[in-house]
Amino acid sequence: MKKLIAGNWKMNGSEAGAASLINDIGDGIAQNKGLTDKCDFLVCPPFVHIHVVKRQIDHDHMPVDIGGQDCAATENGAHTGETSAAMLKDLGCRYVILGHSERRADQQENSLYINEKAARAHMQGIITVICVGESEEEREAGKEFEIVGQQLAESLPDGVTAENTVIAYEPVWAIGTGKNATPDDVKAMHAFIREKLQEKLADAANIRILYGGSVKPENASSLFEVENVDGALIGGASLKAEQFLGIAEAALDIAKAA
Ligand code: PGA
Repeated sequence: MKKLIAGNWKMNGSEAGAASLINDIGDGIAQNKGLTDKCDFLVCPPFVHIHVVKRQIDHDHMPVDIGGQDCAATENGAHTGETSAAMLKDLGCRYVILGHSERRADQQENSLYINEKAARAHMQGIITVICVGESEEEREAGKEFEIVGQQLAESLPDGVTAENTVIAYEPVWAIGTGKNATPDDVKAMHAFIREKLQEKLADAANIRILYGGSVKPENASSLFEVENVDGALIGGASLKAEQFLGIAEAALDIAKAA
């Protein structure tokens, strides 16, 4: 399966900066045609920049998908400040990130709420990137499998398939900290996630499981070599085209060497 190289731009940048970043990413992909043989690309800009980024992608026929960083759990109506899955679809989004640990922490989103959001997104034909991951305290207490198992059990709505869902394992303590889970930790958790998916779904073998948390060009190879790592969800390094593409190049090199 191709690796999914997904950028989560979070709440960064300006409209002009977003346009210039996607242009640089598009140029970089065009200059290295091999990349799209082995990688699919996704960028998730802030809501207000989706339009300008999508326009650029379409104008230059870039092989890059676009997604939102969240969507509402409700269909429409009196929900001030919310963005519905239908609105994302209307903007051309193919994906939406849900249950990111920053939203779980800052907006107190729990897994059952994420489940409702995912169901809404699926109704619109949007692919959900559902994030799971334990905190540092939970890992220190040896509870990482219990926590991730529960997040998976509760966050995935009925009707999940490999076509409509991607899982992102992001240990909270590795996000934006420069700390990395070791390849052994990643291997164990991704195998656990695959096993949990297999208990529930017929096509679990085809569901992409991304790793996220301080992924950089320098550590991408050692992560992509790990079994069941089907791509990366990238925060900080996705804001620089060179680094974002450097991570994709690591995936390409591994695929060539295989
Ligand atoms: P990071 O963020 O790459 O900056 O650690 C990853 C994420 O939050 O998705």
